[in-house]
Order: sequence, then structure tokens, then C-alpha cells
Amino acid sequence: MSESMLSPKKLEGKVAIITGGASGIGEATARLFAKHGARMIVIADIHDLGQQLATSIGTDNCIYMYCDVTNENQVKALVDSTLQNYGQLDFMFSNAGILNSKPPQTVLDLDLSAFDHLFAINARGMAACVKHAAPAMVERRMKGSIVCTASVTGSRGGYWMTDYYMSKHAVIGLVRSASTQLGAHGIRMNCVSPCGVATPGLCRWLNIEAVEVERVYEPNPCLKGIVIKTKHIADAVSFLASDDSEFVSGHDLVVDGGFLSKLN
Ligand SMILES: NC(=O)c1ccc[n+]([C@@H]2O[C@H](COP(=O)([O-])OP(=O)(O)OC[C@H]3O[C@@H](n4cnc5c(N)ncnc54)[C@H](O)[C@@H]3O)[C@@H](O)[C@H]2O)c1
Repeated sequence: MSESMLSPKKLEGKVAIITGGASGIGEATARLFAKHGARMIVIADIHDLGQQLATSIGTDNCIYMYCDVTNENQVKALVDSTLQNYGQLDFMFSNAGILNSKPPQTVLDLDLSAFDHLFAINARGMAACVKHAAPAMVERRMKGSIVCTASVTGSRGGYWMTDYYMSKHAVIGLVRSASTQLGAHGIRMNCVSPCGVATPGLCRWLNIEAVEVERVYEPNPCLKGIVIKTKHIADAVSFLASDDSEFVSGHDLVVDGGFLSKLN
């Protein structure tokens, strides 16, 4: 094992933006980044829970900034203000995403307004974050790293939630294209693909408690004796953010306890 893998401070001195950082996977990642010594974590979200989280992590190394990823100007302002205030951007975690409020969204029953809204966040919003983070890294000749949150739904079909499945396929397409294009500049581009994990967003959507969500998804992973938590995805993201993954790019890091492999 390399020294940096053993070191709890693998993100020392790094400046990171986390979109959708106020809740769930983004929140767990922000907390882990602080433990790993990140110099500044910028929580970008539309929910002011982000402010409470920044205060609880400590405003010396964490701030909240309102940013709706559907608004390109706000995404640009997020990156610009990070550079202006902290002088660098080492890592962008483009994680903000939603489930549709109008299930089932089968192809026979597709509400296209809801489809557009979901795509504006899950696909276009992800692209906007990559579009504005990458030049900031190129201009400063940083060995930057960008990670998007895709999903196991990005590499298989589903019986419903067609727009969500499509949007996560789009994220994987974005990562493959961007890694091809940004490699020449030394920027790494990857995604993480979790299976069902009991976040506040998923609990609200299913309208059940976290323990119930975990029971619903428990049969999916092949790996038994352990329940997926947001921490497991945060661990994968911090690996991709750190120098431990310095030759990893264009990769979809699946965090699913073997769920997808049993379907292949
Ligand atoms: N929970 C799961 O089972 C699961 C599985 C696979 C992938 N994902 C993906 O993980 C990511 C995080 O989801 P989560 O489960 O932690 O959900 P969550 O709802 O707990 O957190 C999502 C955060 O994104 C923010 N957000 C929503 N719209 C936004 C916008 N327009 N601009 C900025 N921020 C916005 C929300 O305010 C919230 O804080 C999403 O991309 C989701 O699709 C989740």
C-alpha cells in the first residue's frame, strides 16, 4: 500500500467544489474531504442546508454557495469565485441530481416537461460543471480531477424511470468524451456509479424511512453482510480526487457490491 493510501490527509491543500453537496452523497463526501485535509470545500447547492453543513464542518475550510446547476451563469460564477477566493480548483464533484417527481415515466407514459426538468439537472447541469471546471484547471496548468455521479442505471435498462436511466447513460457518455478530450491537458475525468443508497433524497422520493429503503434494496448487491451507506461512495470519490488514482481516467467506478456483474 502506498504511503498516501495509509495517510488520512490524502487531500491536503486541495480546493474542491461539490455540487448537490448539502445532502446525501454530496454531504458525506464534503465531511470526508474535510477529514482528508482539503484546504477548502465549496458546497454548491440550492438548499440552504448547505450553510448548516458548512458551519458544522467549519467555515475555515468549508463554505456554502447557492448554485443552481441548471443555470450556466451560476455555475460559471461558482467556479470564478472559487478561483478568485482560493486561487485554485483541484477537484470538481459534479453530483447534483434528482429523481422525477412524476413516476412511473415509462416510455408509454412519459411526461416530457418532467423529462426536460430532470435532464436540465442530471445531464445538462453535469455538462455545465465539467465545461466550466475544466478550463479553470487548464489555464492554471493544474493536474485537476473531475468526478460526476452517474449510477448503475447508467449501464442498464429499467422497467420505469426512463428519463432517469437515460440521464445517467448521458453522464457516462459525458465522462467518456471529456476524458478523451481533457487527457491532453492532464485532467482526469471519471464517474462513480452507486446502487440504491438510503439518502434523504431517495427516502423522500420513496416516502419511507432509511431503514426501510435499505430493506428494499438489500437483495440487489451480491456482497452480503454489509449495507451500502453514503460513506462508501464518498470513499470512492475521495480515491478519484486524490493522487492515489493519478493514472485513472475515463473510468466508471461502480459502487454496487457486485449488483451489475450479476446482471451481465
Ligand atoms: N441515492 C441513490 O440511491 C443514488 C444512486 C445512484 C446515483 N445517485 C445520484 O447521486 C447524486 C446525489 O443524490 P442523493 O441520493 O445524495 O440525493 P439528495 O437528494 O440527498 O442530494 C442531492 C442534492 O442535490 C441538490 N440539488 C438538486 N437540484 C439541484 C440543482 N438544480 N442545483 C444544485 N443542487 C441541486 C439537492 O438540494 C440535494 O442537496 C444524484 O446525482 C443521484 O442521481 C443516487
